[in-house]
Amino acid sequence: MWEDAVLMATIGLIGAGHIGSQIARLAVANGYNVVISNSRGPETLSGLVAELGSRARAVTVVEAARSGDIVVVTIPLKDYRTVPVEPLAGKIVIDTNNYYPERDGHIAELDNESATTSELLQKHLPTSKVVKAFNHIYAAELTTHGQPTGTTNRRALAIAGNDQGAKTTVTHLLDQFGFDIVDAGPLKEGWRIQRDTPGYGPRRTAEELRRDLAAAKRYADQ
Ligand SMILES: NC(=O)c1ccc[n+]([C@@H]2O[C@H](COP(=O)([O-])OP(=O)(O)OC[C@H]3O[C@@H](n4cnc5c(N)ncnc54)[C@H](OP(=O)(O)O)[C@@H]3O)[C@@H](O)[C@H]2O)c1
Repeated sequence: MWEDAVLMATIGLIGAGHIGSQIARLAVANGYNVVISNSRGPETLSGLVAELGSRARAVTVVEAARSGDIVVVTIPLKDYRTVPVEPLAGKIVIDTNNYYPERDGHIAELDNESATTSELLQKHLPTSKVVKAFNHIYAAELTTHGQPTGTTNRRALAIAGNDQGAKTTVTHLLDQFGFDIVDAGPLKEGWRIQRDTPGYGPRRTAEELRRDLAAAKRYADQ
């Protein structure tokens, strides 16, 4: 619910790279508190936190998971099994991750397309409510392409998830951040916006993105 998004005062970030730092900037600009983490430890994030200001704190990964009301996992996919499970139980977890075998190594379920990237994270976090989001926009565009609600030809971003309430909350968050939202369906449909599909990367309105999702082809059929 919209009220939930407003009440969720703290956004946790596991990953502080291109995407994590940009989501932190958007969160702070929209009045959220941010707890941000990376693999090397909070002391390596002092520059980013100084830029973000008093709403942001650099913490350990476990602390980001524990203190975030919504937690964003935005790390190289190959490391998804290091995400702490217990502190994320029952929480909304936003998954930005994509599969690049040259970076992530080969993952059999993704190569044979029997699972999607976010289904892997959902399996790792069985009681969390995983929502796929932010995976098909270049990091730099997160802070430059957002526009107010109702803007004609506003850019749209796709989400996917198995929990409708979690998707509603993430929808309101993305709207606050400046984007229309297209619901691609449950996590198993997330492949429609994976690497090398028509909607992956370019700026799209909601109508265009719906068309792209419908036109997406499995890797095996490309
Ligand atoms: N770049 C884009 O435009 C873009 C767009 C959409 C989606 N994505 C996807 O989003 C994910 C993140 O991409 P990115 O470009 O932001 O990556 P990135 O710039 O390489 O940053 C990765 C971040 O994850 C941290 N990290 C790595 N392993 C970790 C672990 N085990 N636990 C906690 N933190 C860990 C890194 O910390 P250290 O530096 O301390 O190791 C770093 O802060 C990827 O799956 C990517 O495919 C990227």
